[in-house]
Amino acid sequence: MVQDETNRDPLFRYDDPVFEDEELLEISHVPGPDRIVGRDEHMSKVANALNPAIFGSEPSHVFIFGKTGTGKSLISRSVSERVVAEADRDDVIVEYVFVDCGEQDTETAIVKTIGQAVNDPDRTGVSIPDRGLGTADYYKRLWTAVDACTDVVIVILDEIDMLQDDEVLRKLSRAGENRSLSSSKVGIIGISNKIDFPDELSERVKSSLSRDELVFPPYDATQLSEILEKRQDAFREGVLTDDVIPLTAALAAQEHGDARKAIDILRNAGRIAKKENAEQVTEDHVRAGKEKAEADRFSELIQGAPTQAKAILYALTTLTDKNDRQEFTTKVIYSVYESVADELDMAVLSERRVQELLKEQDFLNVIQSERKGRGRGKGQIGKHRLLEDSAIVRKVLLRDSRLKELA
Ligand SMILES: Nc1ncnc2c1ncn2[C@@H]1O[C@H](COP(=O)(O)OP(=O)(O)O)[C@@H](O)[C@H]1O
Ligand SMILES: [Mg+2]
Repeated sequence: MVQDETNRDPLFRYDDPVFEDEELLEISHVPGPDRIVGRDEHMSKVANALNPAIFGSEPSHVFIFGKTGTGKSLISRSVSERVVAEADRDDVIVEYVFVDCGEQDTETAIVKTIGQAVNDPDRTGVSIPDRGLGTADYYKRLWTAVDACTDVVIVILDEIDMLQDDEVLRKLSRAGENRSLSSSKVGIIGISNKIDFPDELSERVKSSLSRDELVFPPYDATQLSEILEKRQDAFREGVLTDDVIPLTAALAAQEHGDARKAIDILRNAGRIAKKENAEQVTEDHVRAGKEKAEADRFSELIQGAPTQAKAILYALTTLTDKNDRQEFTTKVIYSVYESVADELDMAVLSERRVQELLKEQDFLNVIQSERKGRGRGKGQIGKHRLLEDSAIVRKVLLRDSRLKELA
């Protein structure tokens, strides 16, 4: 047995022929400012709102809107990190907490998450347990922790439109005013993929929550290329062929300029090349990487959906395949859904319920629904279309144990 001087077991690989530093392509990775492209103006607006925090004063609240992959989470994190560092130079303690409201969607869960992130039990003498406290007690401990452990806490509420109710927003934004906190301050960055989200906020919150609002536009293909170029040291030298980055950027720019998709495609392409023991990443790897990125996105979106919703989407997929047009009314979808449900021996839901489930899937960005009013009091008629390629949608849907037999 030949062994090198490190005495490693030769059964395993330690060298990575494709990636030099794959972490640079993780979505949650926060790259340094020199790798951030085309967001100077947005960064300075966020920085402006948070600026008071570096003196221990109350920052302005900011709401950020924009489609997926326009850098909302990245810019929020990056600017918050810089505020924390800048404040620290003058011994002002700023902390920031990133909360994904898609996962933490109840008031208690959010309050607990922030509390646990901020709390230092040695300082406060209290712990914040995973369960067992009522909402009011979690709040009490949150305020104790914030007052004892920080001067300012910046709360980033990502996907804030997923919140079940606005109460937590109201309490956090009024913490100072209501004397929940004696000396420390709270700043909120609310992030939403829904451009019209403020319309859905309750009046009470809208009037109590003064805030700056920012819209992040999609990137163009040139910006996407630049974003990818600044991450190409994720790969070993010479591994990326010349066409890889321009093609990836062009593919990601197709629907809307989505940097998440661009980075996902590039990472997938590298992983696929590595699996094939290829020496270089090529155009074919990029195309395969795009397909995988789309299937992954879609299965993530749809994972938790009830089987009935999947049966409805299956009906929409069938329609999309059989027709030239892409948009279908609830009524048309319903008639195909009835036969799908029949074939699967499932209960057939009412048309109204199907309409509701379609609306939910629209909200979750699985499909896109258009509502056109038919005059006052007449309700609304919806047309629905898939947002992903129907072949991909079908593949993902057929992974469900109940839908499998449709294959
Ligand atoms: N302006 C940018 N410069 C460099 N990378 C970016 C930029 N905008 C987004 N990205 C990268 O694209 C991915 C998606 O960005 P993210 O902030 O999660 O988008 P959003 O929150 O708007 O959906 C992340 O990996 C992020 O690092
Ligand atoms: Mg995000």
